[in-house]
Amino acid sequence: MSKNIFITRKIPDIGIKMLINKGYSVDINPKDEVLSQKQIIKYLKKKNYDAVLSLLTDKIDSKVYDSAPSVKLYANYATGFDNLDLNEAKKRGIIITNAPGDLTSEAVAEHTIALMFALAARIVEADEFVRQKKYKGWEPMNFIGEDILGKTLGLIGAGRIGERVAFYSKGLGLKIVYYDVNRNEKIEKEYGAIYCNTVDEILKQSDVISLHVPLLDSTRHLINEERLKMMKPTSFLINTSRGPIVDEIALEKALRIKVISGAGLDVFEFEPKITKGLLKLQNIILTPHIASASVEARNQMAEVAAQNVIDFFENGKPKNQVN
Ligand code: GLV
Repeated sequence: MSKNIFITRKIPDIGIKMLINKGYSVDINPKDEVLSQKQIIKYLKKKNYDAVLSLLTDKIDSKVYDSAPSVKLYANYATGFDNLDLNEAKKRGIIITNAPGDLTSEAVAEHTIALMFALAARIVEADEFVRQKKYKGWEPMNFIGEDILGKTLGLIGAGRIGERVAFYSKGLGLKIVYYDVNRNEKIEKEYGAIYCNTVDEILKQSDVISLHVPLLDSTRHLINEERLKMMKPTSFLINTSRGPIVDEIALEKALRIKVISGAGLDVFEFEPKITKGLLKLQNIILTPHIASASVEARNQMAEVAAQNVIDFFENGKPKNQVN
């Protein structure tokens, strides 16, 4: 029997084709923009959908589940899944999947390293200086930055993405310390990463802190005012995970009064809103949640999400079920 699938916003063709090739009927939000929860509900009421391919910008909770009782699978086109209420889904027998992949981890790790170098070499500030026609010739003390070689990277979260960041960091000559609820033997053996028992130990000794944890009740505001004060005044904070892991108001203050030296954020606590004051700071680099935005990663995410839908219909066992 043909299945009806709703995709909340256009994703790479490769995933859509996989679904169409299976003979499923696929409807896609015709506008290339984020749907509000009300709009999602409105679309879902139009047909008896069997599955929804959702995005991380969609807030999916009991209101959505109850408005579309025929939908038994929400396949999220993202590694993260904090945009969906997993418990409420479980109560209703609804399956939730995410879309992790080695190429996504790769893209996010590369973006993390790009932010690290951009902060250390002050690339964005310097670019702006040149664009504003302020460059009048070489100066001995202009835009003095930092070397990365020999510095200590503090990884908070050593899953797929953290592991890949460790791979690059080892190659770049950084020492690696890490914290995770689970130890990662691979990064200890292959990249010489040293496990620390607490987040605080990591913060105190690292020159660069990089966050790679999921957003959970236990990780919300993991980096708060008190913890920012534990960091070295010369250190950088990089967040490519989820915005609310960092108390952004505390971060703005810490950067303004130089409690830490700089930050690179790809995600924001109140995204797409940016906390007041952040845009005025020179010592922060802001990218618009694009860490996984490589052709390779996004195509793989589309394939993984589509495969989860197919597996769900064919054998009831999608590989990436998270609830
Ligand atoms: C991006 O943030 C993702 O979760 O895939």
